[in-house]
Amino acid sequence: MQPFLDRLEQLCQEALQQIQNAAEPTVLENLRVQYLGRKGKLTEFTGQISQIPQADRPAVGEAINRVKQRLTTVFQEKQTSLIPQPASKQFAFDRTLPGIPRPIGHLHPLTQVIEQICEVFKELGFVVVEGPEIETDYYNFSALNIPADHPSRDSFDTFYLEGGKYLLRSQTSTVQVRVMEKTKPPLAIVAPGKVFRPDAVDASHSFMFHQIEGLLVDEGISFAHLKGALDFFTKRLFGSQTKIRFRPHYFPFTEPSAEVDVSCLLCQGKGCSVCGRKGWLEIMGAGMVHPNVFRAVGYNPKKYTGFAFGMGVERIAMLKYGIDDIRLFFENDVRFLEQF
Ligand code: PHE
Repeated sequence: MQPFLDRLEQLCQEALQQIQNAAEPTVLENLRVQYLGRKGKLTEFTGQISQIPQADRPAVGEAINRVKQRLTTVFQEKQTSLIPQPASKQFAFDRTLPGIPRPIGHLHPLTQVIEQICEVFKELGFVVVEGPEIETDYYNFSALNIPADHPSRDSFDTFYLEGGKYLLRSQTSTVQVRVMEKTKPPLAIVAPGKVFRPDAVDASHSFMFHQIEGLLVDEGISFAHLKGALDFFTKRLFGSQTKIRFRPHYFPFTEPSAEVDVSCLLCQGKGCSVCGRKGWLEIMGAGMVHPNVFRAVGYNPKKYTGFAFGMGVERIAMLKYGIDDIRLFFENDVRFLEQF
């Protein structure tokens, strides 16, 4: 029996040696088949048990099983050690790598222009206020001296909600009424915000755009104050060489009313393609608050006078930065936005 056990031990040592030297999973698998496989070397040993005397067989069987178990364990351990580890475990954290830069955003060009415009009026003592975008007919039209059958409703017409009870405001003039209802004169406010009109979208029109409304009310306010305030504003925003002019116009909520032009920013009034050879660019509507608007909010029109104005933010931003298509503001193209 001893020679048998010696050969078994020799086989075991030989197998252990080869397993240890195996450097690749395929080599290891071949070894496993060679030693532990169904036709492997250990099975051969089991086959030879019949040549052992009956009495020694249990001891020999046990010895074969022990070798089998030992080799199985060693194979498994070697197998795990040969499986490639994921890179993250091998190099968990490399503190010498440069960081990943996060792109930093900034204010939208329209927000920047709104802030610039409000800043100028704040210098003159105006206070910035906001009003709702969903309005009633009363604030968008009736209180502003635009009765239901008035033709000028057409030019301010808008989107209606819930069967006509509410609408998206078509002008920020609504905020004039809301502020005067709650405040006694004297007052001076600017009100930036979105307005909505059912306009077909093209390079100069959008169904949504931004306006900034202005309103100043006190005793003894005249058209001269309006001119002075707007002259200060345009020079501050566009440069001290800028001139303004007032063209007579009609708005239901101001009397007299005017459209306000600035001398062309590109040609300084000489005439170019931007101003259509006129030398002037229209930037806002303005006028003296109509007595009917004062009556609607409970102000005495004999005691108080005031001026109001409303300007389109997109138009001013386009003139200031030489942008030729209003849609660029709303497309969220970073290549456009990151230039401001
Ligand atoms: N609300 C007018 C518009 O949208 C502008 C305006 C405001 C005119 C205030 C006069 C006074 O066209």
